[in-house]
Amino acid sequence: MTLMEDSVGVGDLVLLEPLEEEPLLKNLQLRYENKEIYTYIGNVLISMNPYQQLPIYGPEFIAKYRDYTFYELKPHIYALANVAYQSLRDRDRDQCILITGESGAGKTEASKLVMSYVAAVCGKGEQVNSVKEQLLQSNPVLEAFGNAKTIRNNNSSRFGKYMDIEFDFKGSPLGGVITNYLLEKSRVVKQLEGERNFHIFYQLLAGADAHLLEALKLKRDTSHYAYLNQKVSRVDGMDDASNFKSVQNAMTVIGFSEVEIQQVLEVTALVLKLGNVELADESQANGTSASGIRDGRGVQEIGEMIGLNSEELEKALCSRTMKTAKEEVVTTLNFTQAQYARDALAKNIYSRLFNWIVNRINESIKVGSGEKKKVMGVLDIYGFEILEDNSFEQFVINYCNEKLQQVFIEMTLKEEQEEYKREGIPWTKVDYFDNGIICNLIEHNQQGILAMLDEECLRPGVVSDSTFLAKLNQVFSKHGYYESKVTQNAQRQYDHTMGLSCFRICHYAGKVTYNVNSFIDKNNDLLFRDLSQAMWKAQHPLLQSLFPEGVPTQTSLKRPPTAGAQFKSSVAILMKNLYSKNPNYIRCIKPNEHQQRGQFSSELVAVQTRYLGLLENVRVRRAGYAYRQRYGPFLERYRLLGRSTWPRWNGGDREGVEKVLGELSLSSEELAFGKTKIFIRSPKTLFYLEEKRRLRLQQLATLIQKIYRGWRCRTHYQLMRKSQILISSWFRGNMQRKRYAKIKASVVLIQAFVRGWKARKDYRKYFRSGAALTLADFIYKSITQKFLLGLRNNLPSTNILDRTWPAAPYRCFNTANQELQQLFYRWKCKRFRDRLSPKQVEILKEKLCASELFKGKKASYPQSVPIPFCGDYLGLQGNPKLQKLKGGEEGPVLMADTVKKVNRGNGKTSSRILLLTKGHVILIDTKKSQAKTVIGLDSVAEVSVTSFKDGLFSLHLNEISSVGSRGDFLLVSEHVIELLTKMYQAVLDATQRQLLISVTEKFSVRFKESSVAVKVIQGPEGDRNGKLKCKKKGSRCLEVTV
Ligand SMILES: Nc1ncnc2c1ncn2[C@@H]1O[C@H](COP(=O)(O)OP(=O)(O)OP(=O)(O)O)[C@@H](O)[C@H]1O
Ligand SMILES: [Mg+2]
Repeated sequence: MTLMEDSVGVGDLVLLEPLEEEPLLKNLQLRYENKEIYTYIGNVLISMNPYQQLPIYGPEFIAKYRDYTFYELKPHIYALANVAYQSLRDRDRDQCILITGESGAGKTEASKLVMSYVAAVCGKGEQVNSVKEQLLQSNPVLEAFGNAKTIRNNNSSRFGKYMDIEFDFKGSPLGGVITNYLLEKSRVVKQLEGERNFHIFYQLLAGADAHLLEALKLKRDTSHYAYLNQKVSRVDGMDDASNFKSVQNAMTVIGFSEVEIQQVLEVTALVLKLGNVELADESQANGTSASGIRDGRGVQEIGEMIGLNSEELEKALCSRTMKTAKEEVVTTLNFTQAQYARDALAKNIYSRLFNWIVNRINESIKVGSGEKKKVMGVLDIYGFEILEDNSFEQFVINYCNEKLQQVFIEMTLKEEQEEYKREGIPWTKVDYFDNGIICNLIEHNQQGILAMLDEECLRPGVVSDSTFLAKLNQVFSKHGYYESKVTQNAQRQYDHTMGLSCFRICHYAGKVTYNVNSFIDKNNDLLFRDLSQAMWKAQHPLLQSLFPEGVPTQTSLKRPPTAGAQFKSSVAILMKNLYSKNPNYIRCIKPNEHQQRGQFSSELVAVQTRYLGLLENVRVRRAGYAYRQRYGPFLERYRLLGRSTWPRWNGGDREGVEKVLGELSLSSEELAFGKTKIFIRSPKTLFYLEEKRRLRLQQLATLIQKIYRGWRCRTHYQLMRKSQILISSWFRGNMQRKRYAKIKASVVLIQAFVRGWKARKDYRKYFRSGAALTLADFIYKSITQKFLLGLRNNLPSTNILDRTWPAAPYRCFNTANQELQQLFYRWKCKRFRDRLSPKQVEILKEKLCASELFKGKKASYPQSVPIPFCGDYLGLQGNPKLQKLKGGEEGPVLMADTVKKVNRGNGKTSSRILLLTKGHVILIDTKKSQAKTVIGLDSVAEVSVTSFKDGLFSLHLNEISSVGSRGDFLLVSEHVIELLTKMYQAVLDATQRQLLISVTEKFSVRFKESSVAVKVIQGPEGDRNGKLKCKKKGSRCLEVTV
């Protein structure tokens, strides 16, 4: 939305045609009736009080105005606040917002709107929010204690307020400082008809709960209190009770402690109670009038509440101690004086309490000294007042407004025109009313009204308000802006509105007639020392702290500065402060006197526009230039609009500005190039520049965005590409690996098939034709090998007596194993045999022969086996006698033993030596060694032996031989086996004949021509000890029992 669109009338009076008072008023009226309460004159905001809540405030609007520049949206207080805040934040310029206007014109509301806007747009955060809260919450507290209902305004500020909000470099609020100016304290004790005392009294009585009222010893009904106007105790649309809660809450938010809040309320209650202290007119014995307390209860209650002896308070209220350098004189106060003293005490307590509250708030919102701050000051001071009866208060209030008007004139009208001159811009002077002369009239150090008032207050001698007026009349008799009955009379003017005790000042906003009554008193602002000392003595900590001058030891006779002087100096400080900042003006206008919505009183508004100098303001603005800026910052802001200045400019600032504006081909009337500044005539041009800049910024932003987006897309694309390559390489790799694995698996499968197929083919080819045999053979061989190797490693010992042999591991090896066992055994035997000596061989051969002959046949054979064949049992070798027995027999004696010869006839036995030689058996009778029988081996036909263990044997001889003819021999030898074996061999050697050896139990023995049958019987074992018993059974039978 632009300035021109959707607007009612003209939003900026600079564009008004024709520029006269009437169209100006019409324009304001038109806008007002259309609820357009804000209008600009350039950067000055005119605000008309709508007396109704308009739907143009709140977060939505704040957000809107925050994002647009000044001229882009409809005129609004938010736009002005935004300009100020942005200039503070972005251009680092301290700001002040000067809100001026009559009482009830909407200054306080405007200041609150500005504050709420700034609070909404500045930084956020826990700390910042709490600071904001504290700053915002200072309003309800100060309004409760400093505002009151007046005839003109239900919520009239009865003090001046200047608030510095301090920000850090980011534009976040850090805290602030509040300065208050001259509270209208006379209101505490007296109010005009239709007006109220300060809100807090009503709020306390309406809002305090029963418990609190009880504690403060208060009654809810306002009619109990003399200081509260009985007629007006309520204000329409104002809820005192709920406001009281808000005030308590606000105090807590700001940081007041419970105790502090309680004490503040106690002091407030004290003021009310003081009003109820009734004084009585008393006369003393010496006739002088005195005063006293009518009802002691009130004073006593106060004394109890503040911890002060009631008598002392009574004394302080009714008497006065005059102190001179030498002595102290106590005088009693008359009734009027006592009343004055009581009211003065009440006013002082209240105004000091107010100052204390302001200081306490400042303590909470104070910023640390080390931090670098930017400051935004908001000035909301009581408006210009013209009452029916104007007193000292109105005088100082109007003086203050006069000074503010001067600031406005200085900074807009005068300064602006002077600047054109300085900058060498052609200029036709616009006349305006410079109120410097009025300010001078009031504040001149010697010849000013305030100075003269002070002089009058200090002057010894009889001093009264009328002597003061007389002096004024004398000094200002010729002053153009001063009037009184005396000066009028001198000029022969008749004016019935001018009272005798009055003087009139032609203020910039109109003529105001002041009544000098009580000017001296109010300026002196006297509080009798007795009262301040009494207050100091009170046990109430807050009250005590409000009266530091009450300390008895610190009594100084020096007068405190007068109220006027104090005010003047604080106004001077304020002015200095304002001049150091960038001003932003809000000029509040009151549309009617009746606080009615929609009513527009042209006369009233005309008066205000006149004294506010709006028309002049517009004229200067129109004739002049709406905007100026140093070349440097201007170039910095707008050089982006020029081709040659963007992005770099190396020339001077002014040349740069000329280049930029030249390229934009703006009309030359619109521009003026000063010495250090560029001037732009209409806001439209500035707006045009701003709009261009906005578009250019958009373009640049688009360019940056484009480049950034391009870059982002490129990098994103590159990243994606890289990622894609990576992914595809992985994918391909993975795919190939999978494919390879698949191929490999297939190849293996095919190979397996082929191999299988080949194997099957080979199987068919080879296996069926003998492979099985080969295999079986192989397996068999291998197990055989295993078996044999096992056997080799586990061969039993080579001892031939050891017949152990490992079992075959498989049944199929059983036979082989047995064979092997036998082989092994045989091998062992062979080995054994091979190791035998020839002698041993001989012996064994004999043994073998014996075995062949007797094994299994003769029972004594087994016993004979282990006994070696000795051959010589007689010791033949070493016995030559026996050697001889051999006779001429050649060769060795094979056997020499003792045998028994069984007599065939009777069966008796006789011992014989038997020698066996190679050719003979020689039997020799042991007793008759000559008698011997030699038997040639060739004549031995057969031998018979029994199968028993006995040694009986029969030598059967050939019948034809010589020996044989005598018959066979029946012999018994202990070594029958050996003997017969050797005999067998000797026969074999000698005759090549095998001697027949029959094993039998029945044989016949030849005896000469006859034969005897021998029958051998086995006797009982062990009975005979190897001895045999022969028994002749008949002639032809012999029974031998062995
Ligand atoms: N913008 C506004 N919107 C709605 N009502 C408003 C506005 N401005 C002022 N008012 C009304 O006008 C009344 C008086 O305004 P305000 O108290 O701001 O006047 P003032 O200029 O501060 O007067 P004083 O000099 O007496 O303090 C307010 O209580 C409110 O009802
Ligand atoms: Mg106000």
